[in-house]
Amino acid sequence: MIGTGYVGLVTGTCLAEVGNDVLCLDVDARKIDILNGGGVPIHEPGLEAMVRRNAAAGRLRFTTDVDAAVAHGTLQFIAVGTPPDEDGSADMQYVLQAARNIGKRMTEWKVVVDKSTVPVGTADRVRAAIAEELAARKADIPFAVASNPEFLKEGAAVEDFMKPDRVVLGADDERAIAMLRAVYAPFQRNHERLLVMDVRSAELTKYAANAMLATRISFMNELANLADRLGADIEQVRQGIGSDPRIGYHFLYPGVGYGGSCFPKDVKALQHSASELGTPLKLLAAVEAVNDAQKSVLVDKIVGRLGGDLTGRRFALWGLAFKPNTDDMREAPSRVVIDALAARGATVTAYDPVAMPEAKRALGTPAHLTYADSPQAACDGADALVVVTEWKEFRSPDFARLKKQLKEPLIFDGRNLYEPAMVRDAGLEYFAIGRR
Ligand SMILES: NC(=O)c1ccc[n+]([C@@H]2O[C@H](COP(=O)([O-])OP(=O)(O)OC[C@H]3O[C@@H](n4cnc5c(N)ncnc54)[C@H](O)[C@@H]3O)[C@@H](O)[C@H]2O)c1
Repeated sequence: MIGTGYVGLVTGTCLAEVGNDVLCLDVDARKIDILNGGGVPIHEPGLEAMVRRNAAAGRLRFTTDVDAAVAHGTLQFIAVGTPPDEDGSADMQYVLQAARNIGKRMTEWKVVVDKSTVPVGTADRVRAAIAEELAARKADIPFAVASNPEFLKEGAAVEDFMKPDRVVLGADDERAIAMLRAVYAPFQRNHERLLVMDVRSAELTKYAANAMLATRISFMNELANLADRLGADIEQVRQGIGSDPRIGYHFLYPGVGYGGSCFPKDVKALQHSASELGTPLKLLAAVEAVNDAQKSVLVDKIVGRLGGDLTGRRFALWGLAFKPNTDDMREAPSRVVIDALAARGATVTAYDPVAMPEAKRALGTPAHLTYADSPQAACDGADALVVVTEWKEFRSPDFARLKKQLKEPLIFDGRNLYEPAMVRDAGLEYFAIGRR
């Protein structure tokens, strides 16, 4: 498993869980040290126990030694990062580096599996990079390249991997297909969920899935803002449309805009690919524009209520991670909210059940940001409460206590967690996204 991040570590661990012998490689020695020391560098429900169990059984090992990793497996999964480049395209340097590392060292037939989210055509580039390295050392060793995009969700990654909705496999080499079919068989004993397709379609499927999900979010955000102006309640509208099976309830929650390590970069990368072909995607351009604007909606509401100069004000902020059940701070909406409040002179006291260590790493401890030990401690003496991530423990607060703690009884809720009437009955002013 090349790359031991959110995807690589979960994939490697779940493959070990069903009996495979897995060696996880990373260039980040810090991560490998933590893993070899019995820890887990990320927060993912169920992962730590599974890592420990499989490491103890000797089926799951971690290394920074590229030679050992290439020698270890017939199957070489590439699960390295594909962050956005300056122009919005996916930065392919880590994927191609991983491919070259294999080409430089392999001594027998391998299946190289692209698990990272990569632009259409990447399998060809991976194949070319390996072939070039083989040619450079005059080695004539056959190999196959397959695309196997990952659909796991952070926060439920182990469960998603163990019980996938589908496994997409893009390949044309029968031996490689048979081998990957066998790898995934233990995860779909109840019914077959493997979709074998051509490589380019598999690569595009991953981007299409994330683009669709981002579209649903932006659609609901735009309608929520309209509901605000029309005096309608987006939560009632959500239930009214979600009940149509053609629409469904999933992913129709308005909020402070999508973030995280995938949607923003994948939407940009797909848009970049389309634009390079002279056919920019009009719908996705709108999805992105709506999302960019949505990130400031919550702060706009704060400014609307308290005025533009927030000097001397202190806000309690609940939730730092980009979504619940993860400590991932990449493109987290909390960052935008904290920066916008700081730019207007305010300070923030933040609380998150698991992401505070990661937030300290990512954001540091600037003068305008302090961290609290509990949701209540964050609110003590704050001017107002701002809810940014919908962790379960924020869903049913003691509103009467909040009213006493806050200097002004104000809640700005970017996740629509509360029934407006209940908050108001407790004597607090409530500002949410598209709620009456
Ligand atoms: N995070 C998600 O929820 C998710 C879901 C589906 C798909 N993906 C995709 O999977 C890929 C990985 O995402 P992630 O969130 O796991 O990233 P990550 O940043 O958590 O992990 C990537 C790891 O790869 C390592 N790495 C980089 N170059 C390497 C090399 N040459 N050899 C070995 N290791 C190397 C990095 O040090 C890092 O630890 C991305 O393409 C992403 O879009 C992510």
